[in-house]
Amino acid sequence: MSATARPKRGDTVELLLEEIDERGRTLGALDGRRVAVRGGVLGARVRARITRARRGALEASCEAELVPSAARGRARCPHVASCGGCSFQELAYEAQLAAKERLLARVLAPLGPETLARLEPVMGCESPWNYRNKMDFTFGSARWIEPGEPLDAERGFALGLHARGHFHKVLDVRACEIAFPEAAVIVASARSIARAHGVPAWDVRTHAGLLRHLVLRKSWASGEILADLVTTEAAPERIEPLARELLAAAPAITTLVQHVNPGVALVASGALARVFAGSGRIEERLDGISFAISAHSFFQTNTPQAERMVRLVREWADPGPGESVHDLYCGCGVFALALARSAGPERVVGFELVEAAVEDARANAARNGLADVRFVAGDLAETLAPSELERLGLPRPAVCVVDPPRAGLHDKVLASLRALAPARIVYVSCNPRSAVRDLAGLIDAGWRVTRIRPIDLFPHTPHVECVFRLERT
Ligand SMILES: C[S@@+](CC[C@H](N)C(=O)[O-])C[C@H]1O[C@@H](n2cnc3c(N)ncnc32)[C@H](O)[C@@H]1O
Repeated sequence: MSATARPKRGDTVELLLEEIDERGRTLGALDGRRVAVRGGVLGARVRARITRARRGALEASCEAELVPSAARGRARCPHVASCGGCSFQELAYEAQLAAKERLLARVLAPLGPETLARLEPVMGCESPWNYRNKMDFTFGSARWIEPGEPLDAERGFALGLHARGHFHKVLDVRACEIAFPEAAVIVASARSIARAHGVPAWDVRTHAGLLRHLVLRKSWASGEILADLVTTEAAPERIEPLARELLAAAPAITTLVQHVNPGVALVASGALARVFAGSGRIEERLDGISFAISAHSFFQTNTPQAERMVRLVREWADPGPGESVHDLYCGCGVFALALARSAGPERVVGFELVEAAVEDARANAARNGLADVRFVAGDLAETLAPSELERLGLPRPAVCVVDPPRAGLHDKVLASLRALAPARIVYVSCNPRSAVRDLAGLIDAGWRVTRIRPIDLFPHTPHVECVFRLERT
C-alpha cells in the first residue's frame, strides 16, 4: 500500500505498536491515524492486515512480527493463541503495568492537568500468575480444534474456556496460568469422568445436553475449594455417580454442589439442587474480616490484591469520630465490614441491589460480630435519595465509598450524592471511561480529586481497577 492511499479492509500495513487499549489490543499509527491491532506485542514492529476500516476507525490483525518487542515476555499458557482470556500474556509484567498507567493517563486527561497530576503508579501484583480465586469453565458440544491437532480429532465434547471470537466453541483447557493451581487438575478429572459416563455437554445452539458449567472457587485463607456443577436439569441418576467419582478423583475439592439452570442464556447461575459434599461454602478472609462464600456470591477474584485495595479504601475513607460512612454498591459487604471494624458498626450503612448479596452481607456482618451494620436492599437510584434516607431513619454520610458496576453512576445517584454532599468520596472504578464521566460531574459539583491509585487486579488482561479519593473543596 502506498503511504498516501486510504487504507481499506484486506490491506497489509507495517506498524510500530506503541500503546494498549481497554479491549486487549495494541495500538499503532498509520499516517497519523490510530490502528487497533489484535495479536501483537507492545513495542514490536509488525506486519498487520486491516480487518475493518469504517468511519475513521482502523482495526487490524497481526500477521508477522518484523522486529520483536524489547519487552516481550514468555507466554506460559499453551493456549495463548486460541484463548480469549489473557491478551497481554506475552508482554513482560512490568511493561504491562507501565502501559496500563499510560492508558489511564490518556483516559483521565479530560479531567485536566491538576487531576492528572494525582495519578500514582499502578500497584502491581506480587505474584501475577495463578491469581484468580474463581474460574467459570464451560462444557461445550463443539470442541475447538487447536492448531496441529488431526482433522479427525474428537469434537463433540469439551470442558474449558471459550475460544477467542467463537462463542459456541469451547477450548479443552489443559492449563490456565491465571487460575488457582489446582483448577486445571480438577477440570481434567471432571472432563474425563463426564466423557467416560457419556454425559452430554449442553449445546449453546440447540439447547440440548445436560452439563453446562463447572465453577471452581478457592479460598486463599483456608485453602478450601468449592466446585459447582451447573446442569440443565437435576438428573440425579446421571449426576450423582459423576459427582461421587469427581470427589474421589479430586480430593482438593472440599465442597461440591449442583445448580440447575434450564434457561438459554450462557450464564453459570440457577437454583441450588444438591450439596454433594461439605457445606456448600468456603471461608475467605480479607483485611481480617471473614466471609462465607457460596457458588453465586459476588466476591473479588484476586484475593491478595483485593486485600490491598480494601486497606487503601479504608485508609482513604478515614472516618473521623462520629462520622457516618455509606458503602454504595456494597455487594457482600467487603468495604462496609472493613470500615465497620475500624469506625464502629453503627456508623456504617451498605447499599446493594441484589437481595442475595444483601443476605450474604448481613450474614458476613453477623459472623464478624458486626451485626449492627445496616444494609439497604434496592436500586440506589431510589434508596440514596435524601428523602428516602430520612424515611429509613438513616444518617447523612460524611464519607461515601462508591464501587459501581461498569456502567458507572446513574444520574439519580449522582444527584443524590450532590445533595448529600459527603466531605469525602472514595470512588472505586472498574471502568475508567465511566469513572471519567462520573468524576467530571463530581468535580463540577465541588469535589476535588486528591489521590488516584490504580490497582492491577487482573494481570495479563486489559482490565484496570482504580481508586480515587475526592474531597469537598
Ligand atoms: C463492582 S460490584 C462491587 C461489589 C463490592 N463493592 C465488592 O467489592 O465486593 C458492583 C455491585 O453493585 C451492585 N449494583 C448494581 N447496580 C446497582 C444499583 N442500581 N443499585 C445498587 N446496587 C447495584 C451489583 O449487584 C454489585 O454487587
